[in-house]
Amino acid sequence: MKQSVLITRQLPDHLIAPLREAYDVDMWHEADTAMPRDELLARVAGKSGILCMLTDTIDQTVLDQAGDQLQTVSTFSVGFDHINTAALKRRGISLGYTPDVRNDAVADLTIALMLSASRRLPEAAQAVKDGRWGTWSPFWMTGQDLSGATVGIIGMGSIAETVVRRLSGFDCRVLYSSRSPKPELEQRLGIKHRDMPQLLAESDFVTIHAPLTEQTRAMCNAAFFAQMKPSAVFINTSRGGLVQQDDLYQALKTRAIYAAGLDVTTPEPLPSDSPLLTLDNCLVLPHIASASIRTRSKMADIADSNLLDVLTVSAFVSRV
Ligand code: DGY
Repeated sequence: MKQSVLITRQLPDHLIAPLREAYDVDMWHEADTAMPRDELLARVAGKSGILCMLTDTIDQTVLDQAGDQLQTVSTFSVGFDHINTAALKRRGISLGYTPDVRNDAVADLTIALMLSASRRLPEAAQAVKDGRWGTWSPFWMTGQDLSGATVGIIGMGSIAETVVRRLSGFDCRVLYSSRSPKPELEQRLGIKHRDMPQLLAESDFVTIHAPLTEQTRAMCNAAFFAQMKPSAVFINTSRGGLVQQDDLYQALKTRAIYAAGLDVTTPEPLPSDSPLLTLDNCLVLPHIASASIRTRSKMADIADSNLLDVLTVSAFVSRV
């Protein structure tokens, strides 16, 4: 009998064809709606592999419900804060994810958010739609420059490195803060390490590229925003949980910082009555940093292959 796998979101047929050839595929039928938790718990039973999204919480209960034959969980994301990795490890279940493939798309969107938030693009476009475009005016809708700015990057992984390369085109001075200094990167990219208070005090833009862990949760709080310049712009394309959202709201509302560009929030989706959405200096996008057609297709390929590779190897090992 063929082994079966669960895919928690509808993916285009051509992308999952290789999986279908080898396994019985049980796929949730909605592309734009997450699989409800009760469906996930019911349908995971007896599966050898799960291809999940960042919207699915894969915890002990899911693993218990799946049963001992579960060999691998492959997530269609680079982040895996929705997965209980310790529980996977204890049970010898492998974890697949999609690193590096989204570096370009996320770096591009980071720059887009920097430019949009600092130059007030959503506010200006709204003014046109509302009929508030009067005569050309010397200081109307003026914003902050990215060109020549000092950009502080928190976390220095492969996405951050890609952002640095983009910023060289804007003649930016780049500072970074990470668990340990990276002299080789400093040399190669011309960036400088700073401790967090110093980075926040010096930067015109602060962008965070860090995973969400128990250590980083809510690290961008009132004390953090208080150390930024009043003219500075805050960008988050990583995870909403890194930010204490009420504190960010206060910092923006009181103009303690200039603006924010967010691709991620808590919760997601952000309710339409969220106070953040009342602010003209806060731009919120619906978690689309990696949403280019090329990148998402590659992510699907990798998530597929991660699942297939583990199941194929273990089928082979069990035959020999
Ligand atoms: C990820 O991959 O973790 C993203 O947040 C979605 O692309």
